[in-house]
Amino acid sequence: MNRIKGKLILITGASSGIGEACARRFAADGATLALWARRLDRLEQLAAELRDRHGGTVRLAQVDVRDRAAVHRAADELVAAGQVPDVLLNNAGLASGLSKIHEGDPDDWDRMIDTNLKGLLYVTRAVLPHMVARRRGHVVNIGSTAGHQTYPMGNVYNATKFGVRALTEGMNLDVAGTPIRISSVDPGFVETEFSDVRFHGDRERAAAVYQGFRPLTADDVADAIAYVVNLPEHVNILDLIIMPTAQRNVYVVDRES
Ligand SMILES: NC(=O)c1ccc[n+]([C@@H]2O[C@H](COP(=O)([O-])OP(=O)(O)OC[C@H]3O[C@@H](n4cnc5c(N)ncnc54)[C@H](OP(=O)(O)O)[C@@H]3O)[C@@H](O)[C@H]2O)c1
Repeated sequence: MNRIKGKLILITGASSGIGEACARRFAADGATLALWARRLDRLEQLAAELRDRHGGTVRLAQVDVRDRAAVHRAADELVAAGQVPDVLLNNAGLASGLSKIHEGDPDDWDRMIDTNLKGLLYVTRAVLPHMVARRRGHVVNIGSTAGHQTYPMGNVYNATKFGVRALTEGMNLDVAGTPIRISSVDPGFVETEFSDVRFHGDRERAAAVYQGFRPLTADDVADAIAYVVNLPEHVNILDLIIMPTAQRNVYVVDRES
């Protein structure tokens, strides 16, 4: 049964990777979309393609989730147009750098904390009250296996994703008494632009992350997210961990040598 058709789904970080794959998947399932990211050109290209292929409504906004005023402006625009999201996919996020804590770059730390934690909070604060007011809505946070187990040099990225896990749990408690669902989908290795971003554009180093095994694709994760979103309203997946078969925990991966 398709319960996605006709829903308004707001996706942060829809210009690439998992967010973009979810936009494609939800558009194919008949959802109305609101897509946010910093790279508006990418969103425009994606929206044009989705409108062409599926004919649905796609709203765009250039939003840096670290910018609290911009987040509230974009959310208020949706609400003023009567478009309170049925689903909020808190996906925008990144790893920046991979260094021992005593050698780490505080600018990388700021980037991760400001995006993965504060950005997710700003978007949630701007959207969730409207869901609570109308007693309908589903928030899906994209966490990570890095939020369940630390790995060498993962330090601050791990901390942000452990934080996302705590927020998913806390948000669930805070919406008790409403029918609102809060879920988390936590992937292991997914081949996206994630490692390009982590290594500041070093493509070779990024490609090496996925060598010797078959990682998840963004579409694999979008499938899992669609499963979570499509469940009936009395069913709430609190945490769905999805890893490639070759990955056994956050850092043990069966690689062909
Ligand atoms: N790939 C993996 O192995 C993996 C594993 C576990 C969890 N995750 C999580 O999955 C999520 C998506 O990552 P991905 O793998 O799809 O990486 P990706 O291809 O690099 O996509 C990241 C998305 O986040 C957006 N973004 C980053 N900073 C933003 C900001 N300040 N404001 C608004 N949007 C921002 C980017 O858009 P703009 O640059 O256009 O703003 C982009 O659309 C992240 O939360 C990541 O931590 C990824």
